[in-house]
This record gives sequence, C-alpha cells and structure tokens, in this order.
Amino acid sequence: MCGIFGYVGPGDAVSIVINGLKKLEYRGYDSAGIAGVKNGQLKYAKEVGKLSVLEKEVQDQGLRFDIAIGHTRWATHGVPTKINAHPHLDTNHTLAVVHNGIIENHESLRSALKQKGVKFVSDTDTEVVAHLIASFYQGDLLEAFRQTVGLLKGAFAIAVVHKDFPDRILVTANQCPLVVGVGNNEAFIASDSHALAKHTREVFFISDAEIAVVTADKVEVFDAKHEPISKELMTLAYEAESIEKGSYAHFTLKEIHEQPQAIRNAMGSRFVEEYGSVTFEELKFDINDLIGVQRILILGCGSSYHAGLLGSYMLEDLARIPTQVEIASEFRYRNPIVKSGTLIIAISQSGETADTIAAVKEVRAKGTKVLAICNVQGSTLTRESDGCIFLRAGPEIGVCSTKGFTTQVVVLALLTVLLARMRHMSKQEGQDFLHHLQKLPDQVQQVLNNSAQFEKLAKKYANYDSAFFIGRRYMFPTSLEGALKLKEISYINSSGYAAGEMKHGPIALLNPKCPVFALCANKTTFSKLESNLREVKSRGSPLVAIAEEGLNHLGGIPDDIIRVPETIDELEPILVTVATQLLAYYIANERGADIDQPRNLAKSVTVE
Ligand code: G6P
Repeated sequence: MCGIFGYVGPGDAVSIVINGLKKLEYRGYDSAGIAGVKNGQLKYAKEVGKLSVLEKEVQDQGLRFDIAIGHTRWATHGVPTKINAHPHLDTNHTLAVVHNGIIENHESLRSALKQKGVKFVSDTDTEVVAHLIASFYQGDLLEAFRQTVGLLKGAFAIAVVHKDFPDRILVTANQCPLVVGVGNNEAFIASDSHALAKHTREVFFISDAEIAVVTADKVEVFDAKHEPISKELMTLAYEAESIEKGSYAHFTLKEIHEQPQAIRNAMGSRFVEEYGSVTFEELKFDINDLIGVQRILILGCGSSYHAGLLGSYMLEDLARIPTQVEIASEFRYRNPIVKSGTLIIAISQSGETADTIAAVKEVRAKGTKVLAICNVQGSTLTRESDGCIFLRAGPEIGVCSTKGFTTQVVVLALLTVLLARMRHMSKQEGQDFLHHLQKLPDQVQQVLNNSAQFEKLAKKYANYDSAFFIGRRYMFPTSLEGALKLKEISYINSSGYAAGEMKHGPIALLNPKCPVFALCANKTTFSKLESNLREVKSRGSPLVAIAEEGLNHLGGIPDDIIRVPETIDELEPILVTVATQLLAYYIANERGADIDQPRNLAKSVTVE
C-alpha cells in the first residue's frame, strides 16, 4: 500500500518520478505528491485524488528538480487531504519524507516532539519522521537518519531528500518492500520492481533495518549495526511492455485476456509426462521433506485464500493429504498448533501482503518449513520462505486478481500431482491429469472468445444492488472468488455461498431484485445443485447458470445460461472463474466503475 518512487541522475527527475508513480498507482490512489531539490532549495507539490491531478499541478508550476521522491497514497493515518498527502516536511522545509507502512509508536514520538515545541500540520504518522530527522540533523544527514530510524517501530519503507544534499536519497525499510534500481550513472528507488522495468533490470531489495544512501554512481548500504554491506544485484525477468495497457481499456481486461498465455507459462517445462508427474526447478525443497508430508496448512488472503481452498480440495481428493486453509490475518493471532510433518504453503500474488508474511514468520518461528507460491521475484514472501514456486503470470497491475488467481490454481494443481505421485496416484492417472491441464489454455481462450455474450448479459444484470454466487464442491470456492470479483470492481453487494447452505439463512434475502449466479460445473454434485436452483427460482430471483457445454439437464430453470468448455471437476474452477471475471468486468464497466483502481482498495496490502 502506498507507492514510493525516487530518482537520482542526469534525467528529468520530475517526469521520471511521475511516470514511475503511474506504475505504482495501483498501490493507492487517494492523493499523491512529489518533492525534490533544485538550486539548494527544497520544493514540493501535493494533490488530493489521482496522480493525474498532481501531474497537472506539477506542469502548471513548471517544477524542475535535480533529484526527486514521489508518493501515491492509500490513507491509513488521516483522511485523504492535501495536508496529509506525502511528502511530509520539517518545519523549516529543509527535508522531505515519503513513507509506506505504519509507524506504530508515532503517538509517543509526536508527544515528545511537541513538548520540544515542534508544530505538526498533518494527522499522519509520517510527519514525525521528518521532524525527528530535522531535530537530529547537525550537518550529517546519514547520522540524523540513523538516529531517527532507531526510534521507529512498525512496518515501513521511507525515503528522504534534504536541500543540503542534492545528489542523494536516503532510504530504509522494515517489513515493507523497497527496491533500488541501478542504472548507468543513475539510480532509482521504488516500492515495486515492476515500476523500474522501463529504466533498469538490475535491482536489489532493502532488507529489514538496512539503510541505503543512493547516489547516481554509487549505492552504499548499511546493516542494522551500521556496518557497510555489499548487496548482490538481481536481474529482473520481465519486459517493460508487460506493464503497459496496450490497446485494452483496462489492465484488468488485459490481464483477463492474458490468462491462456499465463497458464501456459505456469505449466511450461514443469511437466514430466513420461512419469505422469511434475517438477519445479526453482523449488529448493529436499525430496524427503515432500515425501514425509502428513498434513498441509495453506495460508493466504483475498483471492489467494480462495485459490488455497481449491488447492485443499485437490490435495485431499488426489494426494489424500489432510489439508487445512486459513485466512492469514486470523491465523497469525491464534498461537497456531503446528505439528511435525506439516507443510505450510503460503500463497500470495504480490508476496507483500503483511498478514500472510506475519503468519509465515509465526510458523517459521515454530520451526516449520514454508513453501511460498508467489508471482513476484525478490518479494518479501520469497525471501521469508524456505522455498518458492513462481506463478510466472507476469506483472499483475489491476487491483483485483485475475491471472494471479488462475495461475495460483494451476500451480496448486501441479503441486497436487507431484505430491499425489509420491503417494498412491498411478502414472496413468498422473498423465491423464496433465493431459487435462494441457488443454486448459485453449479452453480459457474459448471462454474469452465468448466475450460478446458477457457484454450483453452485463447490460441485463448491471443494475442490481445485490447478488449471490452459489456452488458445491469445487464450485464453492469458485463462488467465493466470483462474488469477490463482482463486489471489488462493480460495488454490487455480492456473496459467495455453498449452495447447500442457502437454506440456512441467505435464502431469506432472495427476491426478484437479487440475482443468483449458479456455478453448475461440478459433475459429482450437479443433481444436488439442481434442487437448489429450483429453490432459488421459486423465490423469484433471476437465475444465471454457468455450466459446462455437455450439461443438458438444466431443463429451463435458469433465465440465462453461460457455457464453458468441459474438463475434470478439479480444473473447472479455472474456466468458470474466467467467466465470472468477464461478467464482473463488463458489469462494472456498464456501471462506469473505476475498474483498475476500485475505491478504498489497494493491490498490495502491506499494512495489517
Ligand atoms: C488485495 C488484492 C486482492 C488480493 C489480496 C491478496 O486485497 O486486491 O486481489 O487477492 O490483496 O494479495 P496477495 O498479493 O497476497 O495475493
């Protein structure tokens, strides 16, 4: 949450930072600001609203800087106003600070500074950082920054510029992402490596409690004990074009359409067809660790949690390993019971979700190994886990997860095959499963080719205020994900429900103003679902069925039917999810919603 971008070098600092912030806007977009140094003076601009408002203001003012830091905000402390927007300055406007995360002890620091006569102008936790640095500063910025950082508690990434040092940005991070990009006589800082792709592929991440002094030709890094350390550069894998919208109206639509290729990439080179099994070359787990697994515990938030639920069904059905799934924000405070023989799987598209990372730290402190399933190279989760399987989905920019989710399910399916083959799954069964997986990208494409039908249906269903998604077995987590997509981007109050549970309360809400989307693509339970469809229909709710092509028993019950290709029950969630994504997208579009940046949300939830 919140995006930081900074630049030191000979280029146009203002436009580089504004363009960098554009790549980070998905992290927060209620206000934005920029500060920099020119001719020994510190100047800044801040605006409420999207980055475009700031961009205009910066142009109108004709701001030019030699170095600059910028910020796009997702408000935590203090409502989104110009004053609460970052950067925050000290009283004499000698320095500017941008910050992502939460300074937990800001109240006590604020009181101490107030007692010394410091006047605060904003409601933010960040402002204390600016005043603290100024209070310690006696000509040595690094020393003042060190003393300040030593007092801070919480999760944060911070960048500072000072009018006396027009050649450097000082940064630190603690449990929050901050990446330094090293170019040719220029350097960058960003909250997310995607934002650097246009400028450089050579990057390193700031680890907890490290401080870096970033200048154009040199980056010095110090550890928590203030000792200089050298950091190894890693080379980013993706292309700058992958974070452009291209001809699509929204990143979300582009990412929905990228799914056939993303799924191909997630599977590519991982099949061992000869043995009906799977291999993950990047997974540094001892084979005995996997053979000895007796239980699995999956952790995640949002869509990643839903992917985990689907994974648990597959792992229990096919690998016969008891699997529990927990919402990371709940799990982390439960002093969890983790027995030996348990494999923990942490799922996160971004690898930066604070609750998932905290839950991982908790279980690792208990001595358990954690396998991460993640999309972002070098992200915190990948560094905090014992091994990682990458999604290979490419950058996901739209706030709601689309290709991130479907590739998570694909990776979980592959992992299931690997673990099942180590147990009782036969070679033939393994090969059959892989064969169905192989067909998926083309089948997803078939769903996408049907976009016109979704657009048409969206017109019919865009004006309702509430909706249900229902399903059984594999279609139950799929219904949770379908409902989440719709509520995230269209603001329709939608709930996912196990179809059999409708009678225990939710059916009371059904009426002609509340449509039900019934996910009918689970062969083993369809006959049971059919009765639920009749129950829905007799309460007058408009009923849309999403069903496999071969399913002919719908017998005139639904008002509308969306067909998806037929596959095995375990993989059908991927095809049905693509259908619910398209439905949510076109409904949101019909309602004029801000699809890539829905209100109040942020893609990377780096605060609790
Ligand atoms: C946010 C996003 C969701 C995502 C969730 C977990 O809420 O808007 O789309 O599912 O975070 O994110 P993660 O990166 O951990 O998968």
